[in-house]
Order: sequence, then structure tokens, then C-alpha cells
Amino acid sequence: MALLNVLKYPDPRLRKVAAVVDSIDDNVRAIVSDMFETMYEDNGVGLAATQVDIQQRILVADVSHTQKEPICLINPDIVKQEGYETFEEGCMSIPGVYEEIERAKVISVKALDKYGDHLEFEADGLLAVCIQHEIDHLNGKLFVDYLSPLKQKMIQKKMEKVRRRTL
Ligand code: NI
Repeated sequence: MALLNVLKYPDPRLRKVAAVVDSIDDNVRAIVSDMFETMYEDNGVGLAATQVDIQQRILVADVSHTQKEPICLINPDIVKQEGYETFEEGCMSIPGVYEEIERAKVISVKALDKYGDHLEFEADGLLAVCIQHEIDHLNGKLFVDYLSPLKQKMIQKKMEKVRRRTL
């Protein structure tokens, strides 16, 4: 197990589109373990492989706040969505920024687990938000993309300041 480096906005590598995982092996399971460790260390509720500079369609999530309900989705796909709901979102790649984002309220998801078994389930609430946010990452999309251009500029400036401080 190892902590992975999380890319920070506006790193251009966050814009890469992840590839479908075609064989789920020990290497993939090692990535999944490291992603969970990295997410829990930062008290995050979700992390996509894109954020740790791995271009494979893998995401991890745990919305329990007790860190006891790990969910790993490989090649996730939203096959149905219903309604709209607004949630205040944050992102490990954009620390300190929280914004209200509108997404589908209920989603049906198909994916593989870390053993390659098929999963199909419905999600709502924070889990639905989290899965939509992480799948966006796998497509090179960030939650700030839903905001106005002015707001995006302000967030970019803020992140540049943070980066200069930590260099
Ligand atoms: Ni994120």
C-alpha cells in the first residue's frame, strides 16, 4: 500500500480521458488499494484514477463517514438517471473550494467490481452525486466546469496562490 500523489487543478493531466480496463488483475487491485488509502488519508468521499495520474476507468468511494463502506467501480456506466438535485461539492484536486452543483437525483449504475464481477445498482443522495462526480473525472471533466467562466477564473487564481505558497 502507498499514498498516491493527487493532481491539483488546473493540472492539464486532469483533462485526460481514462481508458476502459480490459483485464482486472492484481495490478488493478493494487491501484484500488492505494486509491482507498489515499482517499481515506484526506478524508475524501471519492477518488477517480485520473486524479492520481492513472488513465484507467477506476473509481473508489465511501460516503459513510466512518470509512467502513468502501465501493470500488471499474468501467462504471450510468444507464439511467432521474430528476435533479443540487449538492455542495468539493474535490481532492481542488482543495478548499465548495460549490453548489446540479446533477441527476437518482442514477442506475453498471460496473465491475475489483474481482471482475458485474454490479448493477441504483444510487441516490451523496452516493449518486459522488459517482457522477468521479465518472466526470474519468472523462476529463471537473465540477468547476459547471460554473460560470468568471467563477472558474477566480478559482484558478485561488489555486495558483495556494500552489505558490506550497512550493
Ligand atoms: Ni473530484
